[in-house]
Amino acid sequence: MTTIGLIGAGHIGSQVARLAVRNGYKVVISNSRDPKTLTGLVAELGPNARAATALEAAQAGDIVVVTVPLKNYRDVPVDPLIGKTVIDTNNYYPERDGHISELDNESTTTSELLQAHLPTSKVVKAFNHIYAAELTTHGQPAGSKNRRALVIAGDDPDAKATVTRLLDQFGFDTVDACPLREGWRIQRDTPGYGPRRTAEELRRDLAAAKRYAEM
Ligand SMILES: NC(=O)c1ccc[n+]([C@@H]2O[C@H](COP(=O)([O-])OP(=O)(O)OC[C@H]3O[C@@H](n4cnc5c(N)ncnc54)[C@H](OP(=O)(O)O)[C@@H]3O)[C@@H](O)[C@H]2O)c1
Repeated sequence: MTTIGLIGAGHIGSQVARLAVRNGYKVVISNSRDPKTLTGLVAELGPNARAATALEAAQAGDIVVVTVPLKNYRDVPVDPLIGKTVIDTNNYYPERDGHISELDNESTTTSELLQAHLPTSKVVKAFNHIYAAELTTHGQPAGSKNRRALVIAGDDPDAKATVTRLLDQFGFDTVDACPLREGWRIQRDTPGYGPRRTAEELRRDLAAAKRYAEM
């Protein structure tokens, strides 16, 4: 049985955990505090879920989801994630995260920052442009008419294939925005960020996206 490790148990982390247990995965979930603070969530998730520290979640996960406020990305443990597929849900909100100069000057992107922190992991950007509540309400079986699509971006084809399969199980089509450096096309304030979109609509949105400097 595949284990999904979650670093972050808030709006997105708890929802990804719900989808994971519903789809037959084991879940090891963590936050910044004592795992005991996740007792209620783990009880809801059932016998295939347990709470742990972020380090343990990173160690236990075959796939690990990083879903913390971006300002804390440097806390993510590096060594246990070597070689692993790491899903990055994070977005940059300066009012929450403080100013990060490389993002303000657009010399990098949020997921490239995480990839630089985890140089030997296979970071795939995903789940960053859907409201948390919609993760468990918008999914539909493969082939459904107007099925919602979600964007991924990443530099490792195998990791992207893994995440594409996961998204399909969770109820979503996938649109590949290509390398991680193209992840800005689905960042905050772009056309695809937030609204429900099919794959075709999302592809149009990605093509129409502008850098902040061009807005
Ligand atoms: N909310 C959405 O609809 C949405 C949608 C797409 C993407 N996102 C992005 O996804 C990320 C998570 O968003 P969210 O809304 O789920 O945030 P959230 O509800 O504030 O939850 C953040 C989680 O991260 C944990 N955390 C914080 N620092 C940590 C650390 N150093 N180590 C381990 N865990 C840590 C928090 O634990 P504690 O409770 O112990 O602090 C909490 O469980 C953000 O970057 C956000 O922009 C959010």
